[in-house]
Amino acid sequence: MYPLLFRVVLARLDAEFAHHCGMAVVRVLGARPFAWVARAVTAPDRSLRTRALGLTFDSPFGVAAGFDKNVVGVRGLTALGFGHIEVGTVTAIPQDGNPKPRLFRLIPDRAVVNRMGFNNRGAQAAAARLVRLRRSRRHRGVIGVNIGKSRVVDVADATADYVRSARLLAPLADYLAVNVSSPNTPGLRGLQAVETLRPLLQAVKGAAGATPLLVKIAPDLADDEIAAIAAMAVDEQLAGIIVTNTTISREGLTTDPAIVAAAGEGGLSGAPLKRRALAVLRQVRAVVPASFTVIAVGGVETAADVQERLDAGADLVQGYTAFLYRGPLWARQVNRGLKRGLKRGSARA
Ligand code: FNR
Repeated sequence: MYPLLFRVVLARLDAEFAHHCGMAVVRVLGARPFAWVARAVTAPDRSLRTRALGLTFDSPFGVAAGFDKNVVGVRGLTALGFGHIEVGTVTAIPQDGNPKPRLFRLIPDRAVVNRMGFNNRGAQAAAARLVRLRRSRRHRGVIGVNIGKSRVVDVADATADYVRSARLLAPLADYLAVNVSSPNTPGLRGLQAVETLRPLLQAVKGAAGATPLLVKIAPDLADDEIAAIAAMAVDEQLAGIIVTNTTISREGLTTDPAIVAAAGEGGLSGAPLKRRALAVLRQVRAVVPASFTVIAVGGVETAADVQERLDAGADLVQGYTAFLYRGPLWARQVNRGLKRGLKRGSARA
């Protein structure tokens, strides 16, 4: 049903408009009584419960940052079966993001290119929505909050900008993720250099208090840079690392090169990212202690993909792009597949 809807309707719409349509459906699903009905159909099996970051997740599979930048879809996404929602990226200062169009599908590759540029209503607005969610007590899923640098703030002043967001959002988040890896904010990825990143993370950790702090890195870093960041994150007693963000590489695509060129600059996500994201996960897991949480993201589409990341040492797995291609029952499909795998006695059990 969804593949037909995608082919006949959604694929013909502007990709960002289609996303807003999808988000409207998600928001409706978050309202009573729809949430109850959705939950009855999609609730993950108890066997999928996962402990990480000192929290209990209904499923190890969650929604990656970027899908719900303004904390409007958390209830609906949880009702659809995701074990956690990482909201954001949120910036201290509200911003519109890059000019449209800025989201492009590469359908033959089951991928997208985006240069959204952290369009979001800002940390204050996100905090207000989180306060309402926490007060209502109707929400029981895990909410991570991903923070980034405001575009108008100079890279040299990034730390104060991140700290501003962390102070507002950490008390309302189950975990906080520092995003230094999106390719669409000038200078942002330069913050991944260890000598810059260390003081930034120290300051944010100070502001985050007891809230677990993670850092999200790019797949385009060299192996020695990844090793250095992982060692530093352990050294600074972060709670974990998220691997990976989108890639600026366009290698190995099967989509017509003219379509790829027309999409222009931005981060590539979806199936073509799978191999590199898995390699980065393996590399990180090999050098961090077992108590250190690793969240895997990038090119995950099926339950087998999620299981592969778990088997490679991920504590949790996230996805975004395949949601566009698989539709609203994606988390349910993944959770059911994981459960079947568990029954067969796979490595997770
Ligand atoms: C993203 N991603 C992202 N990541 C992040 O840390 N902050 C963000 O604001 C965004 N925004 C964003 C928008 C869009 C349209 C996409 C497709 C992706 C990256 C995302 O969280 C994830 O790391 C990558 O997309 C790789 O996972 P998938 O999409 O291959 O499952």
